[in-house]
Amino acid sequence: MIFDLNELKPAEKQYYLQHVIAPRPICFASTIDKEGHVNLSPFSFFNLFSTHPPIVIFSPSRRVRDNTTKHTLQNVLEVPEVAINIVTYDMVHQASLASCEFPKGVNEFIKAGFTEEPATLVKPPMVKESKVKLECKVIEVKPLGTEGGAGNLVICEVLRMHIADSLLHDSLVSAQTIKLIDQRKINHVARLGGDWYCQVNEQNLFQVEKPNTQLGIGIDALPENIRGSEILSGNGLGQLANVQELPAIDASFDDDHLKQIIQYYNLNPDEMEMELHLYAKKLLKEGKVKEAWQVLLAAY
Ligand SMILES: Cc1cc2nc3c(=O)[nH]c(=O)nc-3n(C[C@H](O)[C@H](O)[C@H](O)COP(=O)(O)O)c2cc1C
Repeated sequence: MIFDLNELKPAEKQYYLQHVIAPRPICFASTIDKEGHVNLSPFSFFNLFSTHPPIVIFSPSRRVRDNTTKHTLQNVLEVPEVAINIVTYDMVHQASLASCEFPKGVNEFIKAGFTEEPATLVKPPMVKESKVKLECKVIEVKPLGTEGGAGNLVICEVLRMHIADSLLHDSLVSAQTIKLIDQRKINHVARLGGDWYCQVNEQNLFQVEKPNTQLGIGIDALPENIRGSEILSGNGLGQLANVQELPAIDASFDDDHLKQIIQYYNLNPDEMEMELHLYAKKLLKEGKVKEAWQVLLAAY
């Protein structure tokens, strides 16, 4: 089905777009108005857009319901500073509570049970309970429209970061000790469509090695029987095609299961190829790309 955005009502655009552009990280934006009243609200239209300069953007939208603007937007227009606090899984229900439409001037730190921690460079306080806090200067507020649903990009330059010691560990790189972040320990939470959220934890995290400066051969360079395989998935082909050159048969590769397949299906090359592809698929799932290549090369 094709959805033409021009034909959708504002609430429908919001519904479909928020379900498909997901998951989105969640930040807590702490702001103040010119009288110094503190406001804390969660935003999932939020991301990192540049590292040098260090720029994050979040977007308090005009309400679809009645086209009113959010206190956060009003505040950053009055005092262009924000403390951005990363929302983690252990805070998600309190973050949701903080998103209630409390009247202007109500401090959501108090309503949602968080502790104000003074920032060092900006006036809005940070959320003490958050493991990562960014002190930011608002360098531009860019309205994207005037109707309900229109976002307002709050473009923030990160001046200072506070990262909990519990997330960091020392690592020796070129005789220098540097602090590394343990991604598994942050336990991010993210927003999807409607009431759906997901959490990032050790059970669902995985790594994909960066291709870096070396060029992969590309899927178009894979042998036809591999590229056209009905067994190997797109992910599997992606792994195989990320090698720098087409591998050659390695005579020292010794694998009992491979030997069994070759012996058993000796008289039936089609079935042998199928079995080899199934075995390669299993190896690729385990991240064993070199081994998978050797298994696939045995089909020739
Ligand atoms: C997890 C979460 C993410 C949200 N993300 C956004 C967002 O990106 N933009 C937005 O306008 N509202 C978002 N909201 C709704 C605002 O937090 C909500 O409108 C809040 O009342 C605004 O508060 P304020 O008027 O005090 O600024 C989100 C709510 C939740 C619970």
